[in-house]
Amino acid sequence: MEHIAAITGTGVFTPEKIITNAELVTAFNAYADKTNAENADAIAAGDMVALEHSSEEFITKASGIEQRFVIDKSGILDPAVMHPLLRQRPDDEPSLMAEMGFDAAQKALTQAGKGPADVDAVICAASNMERAYPAVAIEIQDLLGVDGFAFDMNVACSSATFGIQAASDMIRSGSIRSALVINPEICSAHLEWRDRDCHFIFGDVATATLIERAEDAAGSYFEIKSTRCSTVFSNNIRNNNGFLRRSRPDGVKDRRDMQFMQNGRKVFKEVLPLVAKHISSHIEDEGLNSDNLKRLWLHQANKAMNDFIGKKVLGRTPEPGEQPNILQDYANTSSAGSIITFAKYSGDFQDGDYGLICSFGAGYSVGSVLVRRHA
Ligand code: COA
Repeated sequence: MEHIAAITGTGVFTPEKIITNAELVTAFNAYADKTNAENADAIAAGDMVALEHSSEEFITKASGIEQRFVIDKSGILDPAVMHPLLRQRPDDEPSLMAEMGFDAAQKALTQAGKGPADVDAVICAASNMERAYPAVAIEIQDLLGVDGFAFDMNVACSSATFGIQAASDMIRSGSIRSALVINPEICSAHLEWRDRDCHFIFGDVATATLIERAEDAAGSYFEIKSTRCSTVFSNNIRNNNGFLRRSRPDGVKDRRDMQFMQNGRKVFKEVLPLVAKHISSHIEDEGLNSDNLKRLWLHQANKAMNDFIGKKVLGRTPEPGEQPNILQDYANTSSAGSIITFAKYSGDFQDGDYGLICSFGAGYSVGSVLVRRHA
């Protein structure tokens, strides 16, 4: 017998510290001036290209991002450091990702009116894991006091939607009754803050989604009508950091490719058509069209990108509220972005309303979740 899977709760953990574009640009420009002064001879000899200043106007215009939340601000804004500074935690203390994920998971459980005993599985789906093993998901499972099983998965920006597909498929088939899909994203630790092309892109956050059998829901819920995932290999968003690093010549050096790298314009050009087509064919296959969708909760990377997708899918400029953005406040939080948007902009849904969550990014990967409100 096939069961109906439903989203019954969501939770968002937002770090306390904010970096505004103004603070970011001041720090970057001080770093650029310092680097240029230290390398004045090499620059004069033509052996090195001088770093150019960043600008608030460019960032807002190119991305729509106005600020970002971060776990640590001091290191990122120190021109002599330019990355987050985190304290070393002993192994018997919860890891940072587990702590963030635990907070978001508790909020999702509270919203659903459920407790750890109601959860059968924990999936930690994020673009980076802070260690190789044991799985962060199992640590969160332990912190929550959940029986059953847990595992980590990584599909970069699409980790949350792919995680929701995995969880809802298990619920539908009957192997579990419920799962928490948790997305702790510490993007500040894999962003290259010394590169003006991308230093404004990311922020930190954690989201959690509780998925249960619809019949177990304690209140109103979003039925998961269907999910769709697709991937196409591309090197245009890439990070070469990994466990083989120590074994390779120059592996442990401070190399640019050990942080987030992207060919932003190509990403823009190649991902947009993929996403627009993906969404349209997903809803069409469900016998729906864009008029049936009350809202799109899109991945939060770039405002122009979302405006384009909204317009392409709806066939017109979206009305206010049809395609809300949170990227102006949070920046790109990788897999968590579409879930933050869903969590913040779904309370007004009435019985029978349809909406679609869609993420996209490195891989390339695209994941969509079509939901229908039951109030
Ligand atoms: N401040 C001032 N100028 C800057 C700058 C900064 N911080 N960063 C780049 N510039 C300059 C560039 O050097 C370039 O100068 P040039 O024309 O002399 O070469 C110019 O501004 C335009 O740069 P470009 O990279 O073409 O900007 P863009 O308008 O295409 O926007 C992105 C860049 C990254 C915001 C955009 O391409 C994008 O959002 N891509 C997709 C991102 C995405 O979704 N990534 C997924 C990550 S998971």
